Amino acid sequence: MIKIKVPATSANLGVGFDCMGLAVSLYSTASFEKNDQPLSIIGCEPEYQNSDNLIYQAFVKGCQFLKQDVPNVKITIDNHIPISRGLGSSAFCIVAGLMGANAWFGNTLTKEQLLDLATQIEGHPDNVSPAIYGQLGVSFMNDADVQTVHFEVDPKLHFVALIPNYHVSTEKARSILPTEMSYQTAIYQIGHAVALSKAFELGDLALVKTAIVDKMHEPFRSQLIPDYPSAKEITEANHGVLYISGSGSTLMAITKDDDAADKIITDVKKSFPNWEAHHLTVDTKGARVI
Ligand code: HSE
Repeated sequence: MIKIKVPATSANLGVGFDCMGLAVSLYSTASFEKNDQPLSIIGCEPEYQNSDNLIYQAFVKGCQFLKQDVPNVKITIDNHIPISRGLGSSAFCIVAGLMGANAWFGNTLTKEQLLDLATQIEGHPDNVSPAIYGQLGVSFMNDADVQTVHFEVDPKLHFVALIPNYHVSTEKARSILPTEMSYQTAIYQIGHAVALSKAFELGDLALVKTAIVDKMHEPFRSQLIPDYPSAKEITEANHGVLYISGSGSTLMAITKDDDAADKIITDVKKSFPNWEAHHLTVDTKGARVI
């Protein structure tokens, strides 16, 4: 049996819209084994137990890229990444399926090839890249060629995923964005994004706080998350910094110590008892065969 473990990922990180992504210590696994029928899938809702399943679709794409017949397969999913919450649940499916096919046929693909294939399926690299490599990745594309620059995140920084009990559709969160941006705003974003990468590397929370302030998507998307102002207030009362993870609804708080992270969880749970909250660290390894 082949088992693939994939970290959750948090894209955008404020000013890094569609470019930055961070792998965090919340994991899902998918196992692949021989089967006497073409396809069985367990561990997900019955509506996803068919050939439209994204893990299987990515597995098929991997087999096709390797020029192999798609084998009969049983896929067992153990998912801990909340779906449609901005934590890379689709990146998990895509990366697990591709790596499952790669492992099935002798692990011949490089991480660069996996990233290219995963980006073709997902449409953008900001989640799939850290899911494959771990750490903080800044990705960019020249035509179909995807490149990622990796940054180590100082372990002084702590991350708290505050996960509302409602989702935000990525489609809607993209459709509400303006279609144009001024040179002035572009200059603002570039300077802030470069500084933010350095701030993560240094573990400098004060610099994170000033550099992370986005003008490209958060001002619009925060309106889709009704509890954004309360979560921001709780985070800032505990000296943390908040950003919208991916297209939401998860809000990610960054703190510089354990106590502040745990206090944010306690305070959020008081106001929002139905939310999930996880104190996370940065995943440094990315997806692996276990
Ligand atoms: N960068 C994407 C967005 C991530 O914010 O729309 C969602 O998958």
